Amino acid sequence: MKISVIGSGYVGITTAIMFCELGYKVTGVDTDERKLALLRSGQLPIYEPGLEKRLPLHLAKGNLAFTDDTKDAVEEADVIYIAVGTPANPDGSCDLTYVREAAQAIGRYQNGYKIVVNKSTVPIGTGEKVKRWILENQKHPYPVDIVSNPEFLREGTALRDALSPDRIVIGAERPAAAEMIKSLFADIDCPKIVTNLRTAEMIKYSANAFLATKISFINEIGRLCDVYGANVDDVALGIGLDRRIGSEFLRAGIGWGGSCFPKDLAALIAMSERAGVETRILKAVREVNTEQVAYYLARLEERLGGLRGKRVSLLGVSFKPDTDDIREAPAITVIKRLLACGASVRIYDPVAAKHVKLEFPAARVCKTAEEALAESDCAFLMTEWKEFLSIDWKKAYAAMRTPLVIDGRNFLDRKFLEGIGYRYYGIGRGNGVTHG
Ligand code: UGA
Repeated sequence: MKISVIGSGYVGITTAIMFCELGYKVTGVDTDERKLALLRSGQLPIYEPGLEKRLPLHLAKGNLAFTDDTKDAVEEADVIYIAVGTPANPDGSCDLTYVREAAQAIGRYQNGYKIVVNKSTVPIGTGEKVKRWILENQKHPYPVDIVSNPEFLREGTALRDALSPDRIVIGAERPAAAEMIKSLFADIDCPKIVTNLRTAEMIKYSANAFLATKISFINEIGRLCDVYGANVDDVALGIGLDRRIGSEFLRAGIGWGGSCFPKDLAALIAMSERAGVETRILKAVREVNTEQVAYYLARLEERLGGLRGKRVSLLGVSFKPDTDDIREAPAITVIKRLLACGASVRIYDPVAAKHVKLEFPAARVCKTAEEALAESDCAFLMTEWKEFLSIDWKKAYAAMRTPLVIDGRNFLDRKFLEGIGYRYYGIGRGNGVTHG
């Protein structure tokens, strides 16, 4: 069984390496020569712990190759995964240009029966379009099956998530094609859900929308905890232990970002609007998340008595730890607003700062957290990188101009910091009773 994966981004590379781990021979396809050169030399174009050791290993074993030749990759494969990017259009809908181009190329170069699997997150009904684009470009009427096998991996734990998933979802028009794809995962012990194409596509969007809902829900409860003097971390624990609720994705903070939740929620809302279906919950989930940054900035402003002329140090800029991805990271909005308000901004992030440097030349990128905090009016934690726990907070206290910590991820030890003398704010962490 030979597998080709079109698109060597986050999902494509992880999918390719996952199949190598499962014992298959895989060809990864991409058009970006720079990316291909890096991959062929065993280096990742992304920061993703866990993949960096497996990539050179599978290249050396001959399990994995990378090419820009889609023709070869299509001809030699039995199964072709489409894992190209699906950027957002200005109205939030999903731009299928790269998916269409991949499908057209598959049709053009098809040399026999193929199973084409959609791994990219695509609007409901795209599987059928992919089939049409393939058939329209075929030189001979070869049979083709389209399967949807959505991705549930998280950045930072991509390979682990791919190899030990909670479930595998396979959607297909023909049960035989679904069974064939299911058999690729025979060595992975987890529930495998076989359904139709449209349902598999809907499962992907619903999963991300529901996870974003949990976070916006606990963030809203966090705001209530702030005024009623309750502790949101304990609320999350207290409700999360109810198995019907579940304890994950209930960490209150400055909100969700990344390349998936914002884009997928926008696409689902755009799909619902196109169909004339009102989706109040989805819109509220997004609104709460957008407001969350302003909510934190208001807490910062209250404590500093204004932002103009203040020096704010951001600890972390990536949308979450263990990634250098800053797409839709709350930190980006925070930097923009702080600069617009006349504050000066310092940034420290173990891996992502380089991306911010280009976008915000006015912000000063520091090499260490200590450098960022010296002479600063606030340590504003945006990303829960583990190393922030081992900052010498006593030393930083002496070096800061104003010893204020705004903890955007409820990550630091409040009692410890207050013991040193810091003023501390973390959402819903017993910030006093103003009501009730
Ligand atoms: C998300 C999903 O978790 C994956 O299952 C999915 O495959 C992926 O999108 C995708 O569609 O490709 P990812 O974007 O890598 O994965 O990141 P998450 O770990 O889900 O975190 C998303 C955001 O939510 C981050 O900004 C994180 O800080 C925030 N978050 C997460 C919270 O604010 N609180 C939480 O309790 C959990």
